[in-house]
Amino acid sequence: MARSKIALIGAGQIGGTLAHLAGLKELGDIVLFDIQEGIPDGKALDIAESSPVDGFDARLVGTQSYEAIEGADVVIVTAGVPRKPGMSRDDLLEINLKVMEQVGAGLKKYAPDAFVICITNPLDAMVWALQKFSGLPGNKIVGMAGVLDSARFRYFLAEEFNVSVEDVTAFVLGGHGDSMVPLVRYSTVAGIPLPDLVKMGWTTQERLDKIVQRTRDGGAEIVSLLKTGSAFYAPAASAIAMAESYLKDKKRVLPCAAQLSGEYGLDQMYVGVPTVIGAGGVERVVDISLDRSERADFEKSVATVQGLIEACRKIQPALN
Ligand code: APR
Repeated sequence: MARSKIALIGAGQIGGTLAHLAGLKELGDIVLFDIQEGIPDGKALDIAESSPVDGFDARLVGTQSYEAIEGADVVIVTAGVPRKPGMSRDDLLEINLKVMEQVGAGLKKYAPDAFVICITNPLDAMVWALQKFSGLPGNKIVGMAGVLDSARFRYFLAEEFNVSVEDVTAFVLGGHGDSMVPLVRYSTVAGIPLPDLVKMGWTTQERLDKIVQRTRDGGAEIVSLLKTGSAFYAPAASAIAMAESYLKDKKRVLPCAAQLSGEYGLDQMYVGVPTVIGAGGVERVVDISLDRSERADFEKSVATVQGLIEACRKIQPALN
């Protein structure tokens, strides 16, 4: 069987890490696309030169032409600019919306059958716009946020309990931003829900509340340490887990920004929810029941995403 083809639109910090991980995991041949000259080619060659050492077979190429992504099985989009000091969220939205328009046209022409994972921020609005610009079916285009946010939550919990990260499951609902909703009731250590662990004296409600807040601020914590950019190792690892579930039809249950058609009482919008990802793309949106306070937090988060979508519609009336 021929190797799968993975196209990475954006060869910056996340794009380069994605290419390296996809190579190490032998997910397929890799195309790195960027508008910058030399960067995608240099990263592709550098990673290819590591392949004899690590023992993986993958063809890596860098390109500035959309033609090279033709026939891709998976496309991961990180193209755009990260937020810089003095830049409002709306400034970022306007710039990255234009980028999504270009990427959407490229996808429509060269990779209409791909499974597309968007990482560019502001995530929920950008993946919504990318679906519209590309015209790809909603179940084949998703946003990566929930896997990352829940990985942060899991890591902090594993640290708190001094147990393996492998035995901590957690998930986070809602938009990718300050209003995300880490779901304490559905998060467990080896199946034991967090509220039970509080009762068992493994932690206190106060410490748990601090972990929830740290999860919400997870992206900002990295930005404040790095100063010149945002997180890239964990975001790349998260998107690779989604790509792998699609390519290997693993049907993993992963939270991601998915197009909703009635689930959670929402329609035609993207927001973070648990999904099943397999060869059919998003094969199922898991519509879990929420208690009153979880529902209120989720609705607040949804309202933030709706505000961003409205802002996109104002900037680009073709999205209406
Ligand atoms: N088409 C293709 N690539 C583009 C375009 C475009 N129109 N505009 C910018 N790029 C490229 C840049 O040249 C850069 O190489 O996108 C890349 C982005 O890389 P970084 O600036 O290193 O950003 P990164 O840390 O990888 O994050 C990318 O993911 O998490 C989000 O907020 C983050 O939106 C940002 C994105």
